[in-house]
Amino acid sequence: MIKKLALVAATTLGLSAGAVYAAGAYDTHIEDFDFSFEGPFGTYDQNQLQRGLQVYTEVCSACHGLKFVPIRSLSEEGGPDMPEDQVRAYAENYEVFDAELDDFRTATPADHFPESGLANAPDLSLMAKARAGFHGPYGLGINQFFKGIGGPEYIASLLTGYTGKEKEEAGVTLYENTAFPGGYIAMAPPLYDEQVEFADGHANDIHHMAEDVSAFLMWTAEPKMMARKQAGFVGVVFLTILSVLLYLTNKRIWAPVKGKKSS
Ligand code: HEC
Repeated sequence: MIKKLALVAATTLGLSAGAVYAAGAYDTHIEDFDFSFEGPFGTYDQNQLQRGLQVYTEVCSACHGLKFVPIRSLSEEGGPDMPEDQVRAYAENYEVFDAELDDFRTATPADHFPESGLANAPDLSLMAKARAGFHGPYGLGINQFFKGIGGPEYIASLLTGYTGKEKEEAGVTLYENTAFPGGYIAMAPPLYDEQVEFADGHANDIHHMAEDVSAFLMWTAEPKMMARKQAGFVGVVFLTILSVLLYLTNKRIWAPVKGKKSS
């Protein structure tokens, strides 16, 4: 009980909730990256999404699929926003199984990205929403309110969180990682500095590439984020105007009763 009270007191005083969580079961470290899509007016950075797609294509797609993502969505506004002919050319990188032909054929924009090629590598389509980087303190949601759920931060921290230590368990090599719950992950460090060359000459150190691919995976998990924020903003403006009108109407209706001059 005292412990619980102390926890609540600590957060009320504004002490770092992260520090409280870190005292929990795993001592994982999630870095708070600054993404362009954070906050009520944040938007995806089209160039960053395109770089992230490139990192995914050249590195991650060797093992991980994106089976819930239609290739044609790469040309959607608010997303990577690629020209349609470029998307058509991109689709040709992939082979998909066509049940009608009962054979593999070259993908078209109407197809989805393939499934994971490696059995134990999870599909990444929704990963950025399936993982929470920022937790606790339990039930209050304070950390989530200020920092977001932290899915993309978790992925970026995972990609940059390798310590270089390895161990073998039941014939499987595990790699120490400061972001992964439990501390050891079966994925070998996939990224290293200058692995991917960007056409625009953008920085390609591991930190930037991790951030770019995480932003891209946030988009695959929530492609309509910008439309949702816009609808929310319109809703708030509408309700504000409505409240003012109702307040004034109320004033006017009751003015005679309250003995004031009705204007
Ligand atoms: C050589 C194959 C391989 C490559 C390349 C690879 N991964 Fe993985 N990845 C795996 C495997 C295997 C796992 C499952 C690890 C486990 O559960 O211990 C995994 C797990 C993950 C997870 C889930 C971690 C969790 O919380 O469960 C994420 C996120 C991830 N990879 C992202 C990426 C990204 C982004 C890239 C590209 C930069 C990438 N991976 C490249 C094999 C790979």
